[in-house]
Amino acid sequence: MLNWDEFHEDDTSVAEKPAPAAKSQPAPVPASKAGEMNEAGGDYQVAEAERLERARKSLEALDVAAGLEELEMGAARIEVDDKRMINARADLNQLVPFKYEWAWQKYLDGSANHWMPQEVNMNADIALWKGQEGLTEDERLIVMRSLGYFSTADSLVANNLVLAVYRLITNPECRQYLLRQAFEEAIHTHAYQYCVESLGMDEGEVFNMYREVPSVAAKSAWSLKHTQSLSRPDFNTGTPETDQELLRNLIAFYCVTEGIFFYCGFSQILSMGRRNKMTGVAEQFQYILRDESMHLNFGVDMINQIKIENPHLWTPEFQDEVTQMILEGTELEIAYARDSMPRGVLGMNAAIMEEYLHFICNRRLAQIGLKEQFPGAQNPFPWMSEIIDLRKEKNFFETRVTEYQVGGALSWD
Ligand SMILES: [Fe+2]
Ligand SMILES: [Fe+2]
Repeated sequence: MLNWDEFHEDDTSVAEKPAPAAKSQPAPVPASKAGEMNEAGGDYQVAEAERLERARKSLEALDVAAGLEELEMGAARIEVDDKRMINARADLNQLVPFKYEWAWQKYLDGSANHWMPQEVNMNADIALWKGQEGLTEDERLIVMRSLGYFSTADSLVANNLVLAVYRLITNPECRQYLLRQAFEEAIHTHAYQYCVESLGMDEGEVFNMYREVPSVAAKSAWSLKHTQSLSRPDFNTGTPETDQELLRNLIAFYCVTEGIFFYCGFSQILSMGRRNKMTGVAEQFQYILRDESMHLNFGVDMINQIKIENPHLWTPEFQDEVTQMILEGTELEIAYARDSMPRGVLGMNAAIMEEYLHFICNRRLAQIGLKEQFPGAQNPFPWMSEIIDLRKEKNFFETRVTEYQVGGALSWD
């Protein structure tokens, strides 16, 4: 029967095997090693008893009083009203009582939608991609550009979450969702890698596209610009300027990166799937879009809640600046659409995509309470909204979507 030790050792593929001294029974020290220093600089002859003694002495020397002060031992219990999105002083280790039910609900919904890239059958895609006649050059360009942009974009988003945003959002239920989102970003990066590997693409070409293809690089550079100041270790919120800097980051990542930069590629690949081409890749994108629309909605809720709690940050000048940021993102996405669709393809072209992106831009502005900049822009791809809502097109790719739901909380009906 497999016991923990066996499992642990079998599972150690990279690290060295545990040093003999780490086990309950020490392995005999080779005579030639006695008195020598091992690689870690330790003496082979230090016995377990001596180590245990050192651990006990270390505990005795520990400044317990300082630790208890840190924990605020005996402090008043948390009240819901103590909780705040940013700059909260309430204990961040206690999830409940909930203040922001919407954040907890999104955590539950996201978890119920769990999926993994290997669950998607890629056989038809492999045959189509490797065949000579299944796809036009324009269609191949779209697949390459999409995988090129997304394969690194989700890493940019994940790094921003973990290295910049997480510590500055001072609310446990929001952090719970951020942890879920961070894992979903890892799954998305996995999905792109899985597509690239399945199709036998040149990994170097795909994963370096964000540094080699100008229309892809421009979007990535724009996102990166907005994570730089926050990811400095000495950055902190607490002044109107720094609180606004956090808001800028949230808007840049949730409303623009995840809310605009993903939409040309998503609609191109999903349009391909609707035409029964690259259905495995399209199915991966469909799950990713479902996750992303929740990320976007969570971000919008966070931004709006921060505005409610800190109305002094939402000045007319700041609103103007944010509107400009969203317009910049829209322009970059339109440039990407032109670059990835030099001609009409899949019933789309750059002009139709431009209208779609104007429609998306209006939505993003309205979601955070700003004025629409393209009055009357219509959605030329109503099927995209249907996919996002996940209530229609039951046999969209003739796959068994419901089987990928773990909790059964959503239905395609
Ligand atoms: Fe993602
Ligand atoms: Fe995301």
